[in-house]
Amino acid sequence: MKLMVIGGGGREHAIIKALKKNPQVEAIFCLPGNGGIAADATCVDIGAKDIEAQVKFAKENAIDYCVVAPDDPLALGAVDAITAAGVPCFGPDAKAAVIEASKAFSKDLMKKYGIPTAAYETFTDCAAACKYLDTCDAPIVVKADGLALGKGVIIAQTIEEAKEAVHSMMEDKMFGDSGNCVVIEEFLTGPEVSVLSFTDGETVIPMVSSMDHKRAMDNDEGLNTGGMGTIAPNPFYTDDIAKVCMDTIFLPTIRAMKTEGRPFKGCLYFGLMLTPKGPKVIEYNCRFGDPETQVVLPLLESDLLTIMQATTNGTLADTEVKFSDGAACCVVMASKGYPAAYEKGFEITMTEEAAATTYVAGAVLKDGKLLTSGGRVLGVTATAADLKSAIKEAYRLTDGVRFDNAYFRRDIGGRALKALEG
Ligand code: AMP
Ligand code: GLY
Repeated sequence: MKLMVIGGGGREHAIIKALKKNPQVEAIFCLPGNGGIAADATCVDIGAKDIEAQVKFAKENAIDYCVVAPDDPLALGAVDAITAAGVPCFGPDAKAAVIEASKAFSKDLMKKYGIPTAAYETFTDCAAACKYLDTCDAPIVVKADGLALGKGVIIAQTIEEAKEAVHSMMEDKMFGDSGNCVVIEEFLTGPEVSVLSFTDGETVIPMVSSMDHKRAMDNDEGLNTGGMGTIAPNPFYTDDIAKVCMDTIFLPTIRAMKTEGRPFKGCLYFGLMLTPKGPKVIEYNCRFGDPETQVVLPLLESDLLTIMQATTNGTLADTEVKFSDGAACCVVMASKGYPAAYEKGFEITMTEEAAATTYVAGAVLKDGKLLTSGGRVLGVTATAADLKSAIKEAYRLTDGVRFDNAYFRRDIGGRALKALEG
């Protein structure tokens, strides 16, 4: 089989490494991919949002199955277009991808179907939003409605700060049109859990739970980033909580999307907060998380391609989805300065053993050398029988990865380990 994967980060690298395990896979093309992914797939210089060129490439190269990984092409209808061209695709169509693309849509969906989430109000008028804020207590959360590269969420410590956020989103357009509509919501507390799931629109099968580390520095200090590391499973997510989530969140969401005429197929990501009043949805993503995928897929024992095809064909209920009992840890190595300004173009060297389980996010190949090209450069990943060993092994492997100005957190999984050890 010939596969095509759209995207070009660490998540796509992890997906490709998992797909390659299927002996029927003869070739994988990654559009656009990156210098590190080039070791595992043929990278093609077509952008993740260039849907027309993707369709043309799929037809010309007789692609048998396509995986659309990032949110932008999903929201823009890549799955609709590629499927219409006769190539079956993993991922939701544009109508279903709106669950991530519009926070107002997802909040209204949860309200309508009684799915637990933070209390909220939606505004398209700046003055009305500010008037409402006068009735609220701080801290309070202000969110831009549309996609904003994970940066459209402001946790305001005072009502003044919240009003400033509303002004900068709605009037100064700091996130462009994504801020035409804002959601103001209750501040929740509790451990955060990421649960990725496979779904064919009817059946939903959660993957092993995980935990992201979003802040740039140790002890959850510094700026918010795309994610500095992950562990799986998440020890706060017990079997009892998993059952509550299935009954009150996962199944109701899948049924709600179907009822709304937007059946969701692909990977639905539940960003949850385990509050004192029970698990609540912080956000939905219409795709695999990054860097959650880098710890979840290495623990998948069943065949990824078979499961993905089952979500497309509607046969997920008859498909085996098995995860190992072990644990995984991914330490993201970034360019010093990220998420603010950073230098790039430094040569990356890796020992063979580190390279085998490293997922490259931001690197280019030049004259046979791998050079840094992004803020998040790569994720060094290890699996082991338990979390403590996985963390230790991931950090040991980072010793074998070198580039100038490398920066990484030293405490990935620390909080999870503490919770496990009581
Ligand atoms: P999001 O982009 O919706 O994932 O939000 C980014 C981060 O902001 C989340 O991972 C949470 O840590 C935090 N956050 C979002 N909404 C809330 C909320 N209602 N209460 C507390 N923290 C929140
Ligand atoms: N790690 C969070 C996300 O993929 O949105």
